Amino acid sequence: MAIRVIRENGDEILRKKSREVEIVDDKIRELLDDMVETMHKYNGVGLAAPQVGILKRVIVIDLYDDNGPLKLVNPKILKAKGTQEVEEGCLSFPNQYAKMIRPEEIVAEALDENGKKIKIKAKDLLAQAICHEIDHLDGILFVDNMIPGTLQYVEPSEEKN
Ligand code: NI
Repeated sequence: MAIRVIRENGDEILRKKSREVEIVDDKIRELLDDMVETMHKYNGVGLAAPQVGILKRVIVIDLYDDNGPLKLVNPKILKAKGTQEVEEGCLSFPNQYAKMIRPEEIVAEALDENGKKIKIKAKDLLAQAICHEIDHLDGILFVDNMIPGTLQYVEPSEEKN
């Protein structure tokens, strides 16, 4: 596994649309593993392939709970219900946060790392994270959807590694 370089705001690749993955092969599994490692290194809860310079519909999410990291290929939202006001950040926007409205619950489908179709029911933070990462696959960034005037810069703490 390897840490990949995270593309930051201003990098054109973040605005491009990602392509569907046709076959979940070892190369995709390696990408998924690298993305998980990269997300963990920077303490993120999610990462999308365009953020590491790859225009493929691949995302990873980890809420650091019992469910472990989720590795999703070609994720798609099937249903969305309700709304929640959330605070959101993004590894491509270090130390920046904004408020926005996201669905409260979603049903999504995707392929897992073995190419098997799975369905995910998610709410709260997990629903938010899946929506955020799928947006990346369409070149949409969280600042596009934020409630105007809520973007904040938070000084990083000293003891970060
Ligand atoms: Ni992001």
